[in-house]
Amino acid sequence: MAPPSLKICCIGAGYVGGPTMAMIALKCPDVEVNVVDISKARIAAWNSDNLPIYEPGLSEVVEACRGRNLFFSTDVERLVADCDVVFVSVNTPTKTTGLGAGKAADLTYWESAARMIATVSKSDKIVVEKSTVPVKTAEAIEKVLSHNAKGIKFQILSNPEFLAEGTAIQDLAFPDRVLIGGRDTEGGQKAVNTLKSVYARWVPEDKIITTGLWSAELSKLAANAILAQRISSVNAISALCESTGADVSEVAFAIGKDTRIGPKFLQSSVGFGGSCFQKDILNLVYICECNGLSEVAHYWKQVVAINDYQKSRFAKRVISSMFNTVAGKKIAILGFAFKKDTGDTRETPAIDVCHGLLGDRAVLTIFDPQVPEEQIRRDLSMNKFEWDHPHQLHSHGGSVTSKIEYATDVYEACKGAHGICILTEWEMFRNLDYQRIYDNMQKPAFLFDGRNIVKVADMRKMGFIVYSIGKPL
Ligand code: NAD
Ligand code: UGA
Repeated sequence: MAPPSLKICCIGAGYVGGPTMAMIALKCPDVEVNVVDISKARIAAWNSDNLPIYEPGLSEVVEACRGRNLFFSTDVERLVADCDVVFVSVNTPTKTTGLGAGKAADLTYWESAARMIATVSKSDKIVVEKSTVPVKTAEAIEKVLSHNAKGIKFQILSNPEFLAEGTAIQDLAFPDRVLIGGRDTEGGQKAVNTLKSVYARWVPEDKIITTGLWSAELSKLAANAILAQRISSVNAISALCESTGADVSEVAFAIGKDTRIGPKFLQSSVGFGGSCFQKDILNLVYICECNGLSEVAHYWKQVVAINDYQKSRFAKRVISSMFNTVAGKKIAILGFAFKKDTGDTRETPAIDVCHGLLGDRAVLTIFDPQVPEEQIRRDLSMNKFEWDHPHQLHSHGGSVTSKIEYATDVYEACKGAHGICILTEWEMFRNLDYQRIYDNMQKPAFLFDGRNIVKVADMRKMGFIVYSIGKPL
C-alpha cells in the first residue's frame, strides 16, 4: 500500500474530534487520521460497536474507515510526534474558579495539549485550533509552542467547527462553509493551503473561506452568539404572546418569511441548551469586559439572561398551574437531552426545569430514549459549570436524586402522573398514544409542552389541561 499523503492526529476524541476526523478519513482515503484522547474509556468505546456518542449516520462512517485510515488511540505522544498536522479539539469549558470564573474559557486542557505538542515534536507541524477558543488564543499558543520548540517550526491555524449535534454527519458532509484562519506570511499561507486541500476533496472551493487568525477565532464566537440571540429573541416574544393571546408559532412563521430574517432558529422552546451557546456567549462577554466594552458585554449577557428566564418561567408555570404546589406529585419528564437525536445532556434545559420542580418537592419520573439513568442522576447532582470539569466534581449525594425515578418506557413514565413535561423534541413524542396516557394519569391531567410539538386543540379535546410555550392559554 502507498504511504499516506498526509498524517493527521487529532487530540480530543469528543463530539467534535470523533465525527470531524471520521469525515476527513471517509473523504480522503490517502490521508492517515489518528484520533487520540487521554480518556481510555472513550477510546475503547470508539474502537467498539458501541460508540461513545449517539449521532445519526456516524457509526456507518466510522465502520467504513476504522482500521483503514482512521484509528483511535491513547498513544497520544507517539502519534502527535509522528504527524504532519495536529488538530486540537479538547474541551474549553467555562472556568469555575479564579480570574473570570463563571465566564472566561478554561484553557487548561488546551495549554497542556500545546505543551505536550512542543515537548514531543521532532519535525515541523501545522497546529489547528478546532476547539472554540477566545479570540487571540493562537497568539498564546504560539508562545507556548515557540518557547519549547528546539528549532522546530509550528504554524497555527484557526479552523473552528460549525457542526450541530444530532446533524453532525450531514453538517460535515455538506457544510455551509469551512473557515480557515492563518498568518499572512509565506509559511502561514502554505499551511492554510495544506488544510484547504484536505477539505477541498469534498467541499466546493467557494465554501472554503480563508481569513486572518483573529477573524476566524472571533467568527466562531460571534456565530454562536447570534444563533443563540435568535432563540432568546423569539423566546422573549413567546412570553408576550402568552400575555396577549398571540401565538408564537404564527408570529415566528410570519417574521421568518422576510428573506432578510429567514425561517431557521426561530423555534420557541423551554430554552436553549448544549455545551456551547451559553459557554461561548459568556466567554464573549468576558472578552468584551477585558477590552473595556462594558455596554457590549451587557448586550450579549442578556441573551443568556433571557434563556435563564425562559427555563425558570417554564418551571414556575408548571408549579403555579398545578394549584401552586407540586409537593409529592408525580411529574413525568419526557426528554432529558438538550435536543433531539443526541444523548448529550450538557447544559440541557431539563436540568434547570427538574431542579425547579424538585425544589418544590415534586417526584419526577424521567424518560429519554438516549440518555442513561446514571447520566441523569449525575447531571442533577452537579453544580453549574461542573459538568465539563471531570477532575473537580462534587456530588450532592442522594437528597436531590432520591426524588427521581427513571423509566425505560414512556407510557410507564406517565402512568399515575399528575403532569407531563415535554422537554426534548424527540420525534417519538409527536406520535404517542396520548389518549392512553391521559386515561392512566391522575385527574386533572396536565400537559406542559416545552417544545411545542403536540397539537394543543386535540389534547384539550382529550381532556388535558395544556400549556404550550407562547400559545394562548
Ligand atoms: P468533548 O468534551 O466531547 O471532547 C473533548 C475531549 O478532549 C475529551 O474526550 C477529553 O478527554 C479530551 N482531552 C482533554 N484534554 C486532553 C489532552 N490534554 N489530551 C488528550 N485529550 C484530551 O468536547 P466537544 O464537544 O468535542 O468540544 C470540543 C471543542 O469543540 C470545544 O471547544 C467546543 O466548544 C467546540 N465545539 C463543540 C461542538 C459540539 O457540538 N459539541 C461544535 C462546535 C465546536
Ligand atoms: C450549536 C450551533 O448550531 C452549531 O453551529 C455550533 O457548531 C455548535 O452549537 C457549537 O459550537 O457547539 P448545537 O448546540 O449542537 O449546535 O445544537 P443547536 O441545533 O444549535 O441547538 C442548540 C439549542 O438550541 C438546543 O437546545 C435546541 O433545542 C435549541 N434551539 C435551537 C431552540 O430552542 N430553537 C431553535 O430554533 C433552534
